[in-house]
Amino acid sequence: MEIQNVILRGSFSPAVSSIQTRKSRLFTKLAAPFLSEIGSPKWVSMKCDCSFHSDTSPNKTILQRCRNSAQKAECKGISDVEEDKPKAKIRRKNLAVFVSGGGSNFRSIHEATLTGSVNGDIVVLVTNKHDCGGAEYARGKGIPVIVFPKRKDTEEVLSGEDLVIALRSFKVDFILLAGYLKLIPAALIQAYPKAILNIHPSLLPAFGGKGYYGMKVHKAVIASGARYSGPTIHYVDEHYDTGRILAQRVVPVLANDTAEELAARVLHEEHKLYVEVSAALCEERITWREDGVPLIQSKENPNDYR
Ligand code: GRF
Repeated sequence: MEIQNVILRGSFSPAVSSIQTRKSRLFTKLAAPFLSEIGSPKWVSMKCDCSFHSDTSPNKTILQRCRNSAQKAECKGISDVEEDKPKAKIRRKNLAVFVSGGGSNFRSIHEATLTGSVNGDIVVLVTNKHDCGGAEYARGKGIPVIVFPKRKDTEEVLSGEDLVIALRSFKVDFILLAGYLKLIPAALIQAYPKAILNIHPSLLPAFGGKGYYGMKVHKAVIASGARYSGPTIHYVDEHYDTGRILAQRVVPVLANDTAEELAARVLHEEHKLYVEVSAALCEERITWREDGVPLIQSKENPNDYR
């Protein structure tokens, strides 16, 4: 798939959600540094869908469901309480994945979008390492690649705001960080509230934060004597690994584990967990408890929240 085709399709198709309650039309210009990849400047029109849902869980805690796309940041202050009405078909979501390395999580999510178990499409890959395994895989699959931040030896500078504009040109609803080692710019976090997830290879809040990445995490887990580890998927805020926890999976730490063995066991669970969470995200099954904790509604049993 040509990048140009993706841009044109992404920019002008009238993707209107049947569940939307408010719309606002936004006009934005593609980021200048981005144009070198996609041709001449174009003004693109994007719809902004905002919808808030008030719900009551079995234990009477008030839950709020976010069904809107990431562009809801543009609609601040608009909120609606949905009345009981038949469920409309859920719009397929546009995903951006951020990687710095091999991208095995990216691949498993991409495969799940192709098989239909995730109701979304990966429309763009963002990486700080233009030649990493994840970027090579994306190019091979025709997924556009944005390098962010640009390498220091290039003259081009892509700011956080430029990245937001570029992602909006792809109508990105959700951002999935999968082994992306750079801190996310504040502009992106502000532009995509409750729409950026990260996967971390330990049971947060343990073994997280600056410096805890790759094998360092697993070495620290083994050295601590912890008997359990596992991946955590959490929302992203301005700091490393401190956003609200959305999902976790537990694996045992065995007596003779090396860091590599533990990492492989955790990664195996990561692939399954990130696909499950991506499916929930794209099916609008994420609900917010009134104390701010996000929960996933079970597909099989809609009264079950985890
Ligand atoms: C994973 O272990 C993830 O938890 C961490 O970075 C690693 C990425 O692996 N954030 P991969 O690139 O998806 O194979």
